[in-house]
Amino acid sequence: MIYSLVLGLHSAIRWLVLLFGILAALRGFNGWLRGLPWTPADERVSFWAVMAMDLQALLGILLYAGLSRVTATAFDNWGFAMRDNDLRFWAVEHLTIMILALALLHIARVRIRKAATPEIKHRTAALLVGLSMVLVLIGIPWPWLSYGRPLLRW
Ligand code: HEM
Repeated sequence: MIYSLVLGLHSAIRWLVLLFGILAALRGFNGWLRGLPWTPADERVSFWAVMAMDLQALLGILLYAGLSRVTATAFDNWGFAMRDNDLRFWAVEHLTIMILALALLHIARVRIRKAATPEIKHRTAALLVGLSMVLVLIGIPWPWLSYGRPLLRW
C-alpha cells in the first residue's frame, strides 16, 4: 500500500541526502582550507544535496500530514503524545529538526550562488551544509534509539 511505499522510499532516500550532503560539506572544507577554485563538480554535488533533501522533505510531509499511522495517533491525543517520548519525537522533534536542516541547506545554496569568491562559496558549503548534515544526523531515528527504525526497509 501507499503508506509502506512512501515510508520505504523515505527510509532509502535518507542515504542519498547523507551522501550528497556530507560530500558537499567535505568538498567545502577541502576547497576552503586549500584555496581551491569552485568547480562544476562542487556545483553539482551541492545541487543534488538540495534536490535529495527537497524530495525527502516532500515525502516526509506526505507521511506527516496524511499517511503516517504514528503521527495520526499523536494528533488524536496530542496531550498524551507530548508526554510520550516516542510519539513526541515523530509529532514534533523529527519534523522541527528536519525543517531547520532543510532551511539551512536552501540558505546555503542561495549564498553559494551569490558569493563573490570561490573562498566564500567553499566556506558556505563547509559551514552551512555541514551544520545542516549535523542536524540531519541528530534527527534520524537510528535503530539503537527507543524510537529507532531500520537502516533500510525492503
Ligand atoms: C523535512 C521534513 C520531514 C518530515 C515532515 C518527516 C516526517 C516523517 C514521518 C512522519 C515519519 C514516520 C512515519 C511513520 O512511521 O509513520 C518519518 C520517518 C523517517 N524519516 Fe522523516 N521527515 C522529514 C525529513 C526527513 C529527513 C531529511 C530524513 C533523513 C535524511 C528523514 C529520515 C527518516 C527516517 C529514516 C524515517 C524512518 C523510516 C522507516 O520507518 O523506515 N526524514 N519521517
